[in-house]
Amino acid sequence: MRDEHRYETPIEFDWIEPEDGKAFVIDLPEPPSGDKSDQAFFYRLASGRIVGYFNRCMHVRIPLDYDDRRFLDSSGFVVCRVHGARYDLETGDAVLGPAYTGLTRVDLTMDGNRIRVTGWKKGKMA
Ligand code: FES
Repeated sequence: MRDEHRYETPIEFDWIEPEDGKAFVIDLPEPPSGDKSDQAFFYRLASGRIVGYFNRCMHVRIPLDYDDRRFLDSSGFVVCRVHGARYDLETGDAVLGPAYTGLTRVDLTMDGNRIRVTGWKKGKMA
């Protein structure tokens, strides 16, 4: 399994502001697990920067949400609904719970509302 991946051709899309508390979710090709059903989710931080991660908990490698596009707890951490692992939204680092590896981060650049995904990188060990 690879730790990081660069897309030969970057994937571009327009940011669409999701409903409050929900993430913007899309399919990306060549996901880290090789399972094409893996999706990526994105949030806009208070600073305006957008961050994205693949929707796989690093504890048991299952989706973090209940398929409802809600990934955050009341404190703003990414939370796994199964056993409660918490991840830092800004970095994807594991901060609490049974997961000891950070989320797989989507590498992206922004130009206004245009998002350009260039690849992904697996998270660090806590
Ligand atoms: S599967 Fe996510 S914390 Fe266990």
